[in-house]
Amino acid sequence: AHTPRVFSGIKPSGGLTLGNYLGAIKRFVATQGQGMETIYCVVDLHAITVWQDPADLTNATREVAAGYLASGLDPAQSILFNQSQVSAHAELGWILNCVARLGWMNRMTQFKEKAGKNAEKQSLGLYAYPSLMAADILLYHATHVPVGEDQKQHVELTRDIAAKFNHDYKVPEFFPLPEPVIEGPATRVMNLRDGTKKMSKSGESDMERINMTDDADTIAKKFKKARTDPEPLPETYDELSERPEARNLVDIFAALSDTKPEEVLADYAGAGWGQFKPALAELAVSKLAPISVEMARMMNDPAEIDNILGKGADRAMEIATPILHRTYDIVGM
Ligand code: ADP
Ligand code: NA
Repeated sequence: AHTPRVFSGIKPSGGLTLGNYLGAIKRFVATQGQGMETIYCVVDLHAITVWQDPADLTNATREVAAGYLASGLDPAQSILFNQSQVSAHAELGWILNCVARLGWMNRMTQFKEKAGKNAEKQSLGLYAYPSLMAADILLYHATHVPVGEDQKQHVELTRDIAAKFNHDYKVPEFFPLPEPVIEGPATRVMNLRDGTKKMSKSGESDMERINMTDDADTIAKKFKKARTDPEPLPETYDELSERPEARNLVDIFAALSDTKPEEVLADYAGAGWGQFKPALAELAVSKLAPISVEMARMMNDPAEIDNILGKGADRAMEIATPILHRTYDIVGM
């Protein structure tokens, strides 16, 4: 059996959102100190699958790292690093490109959503992205991958790739089949203007997302303008099943306050949006403001962030290099 080990990452492709915080970072922090090795990456090789201005990429890489640190990830307890500094990711990624099947990649819904009608105009990297993600995870023999709901299919693909490698090369135990860990009330935070889409850093309008660095007035304004329905909050969570925008705001409230949506409704049943939205904004500000203040402080000292990422890369390489060499050996290289 493989030692339990946690791996996950975030793309530096724009500012961090409340979706990244609740669906990923906050849950990364919760894994620390639970007896498992924890490895959190800034996945810049994934970011460039769509165009990134070079200076913006450098800045966004530091911002994701600052978001990790300011939220409570501790370099003494977790390995924090930037993907492109550990070349083993790209190397294993190539080998796994030769294991993954085109038919499997063609089933990836995120590519279809991102490419839309313009699949022919997308980079080859965007298409191959899930097999590089498999390499990110398998390079550390990670067993647990905390992610938002949108990444579930990619972790399942990682299991398929691992199983095929183990089978084809007759090394049944070599790569563990990692488990997606998708927990809590905010595994899919929705766009504030369109409750059918997820909140994303690459969305079109700034009003559709809360950024981790938004100030108090901006957060209040965005929640105030968030699309809802005219009904007050119901008594039971089931009654929100056909009300995606309302359910999203209740889920966000629950995740921010570390409770369950049912408990939020126990407090707010019968309340209108004029009451609930300001309470939600106040709660969000109370949780995010200290983090964004700390992020801003860190962003004034980029050398310190780079230093932490550099040390993290060295520690990541200590785990990754022997696994990569063993993989080459298995393949006959
Ligand atoms: P984005 O989709 O914002 O570009 P990434 O693709 O870098 O973010 O995802 C980083 C992590 O954040 C993943 O685990 C992803 O599932 C999670 N995540 C992103 N958006 C959301 C969201 N709206 N709700 C919950 N989790 C999310
Ligand atoms: Na995503």
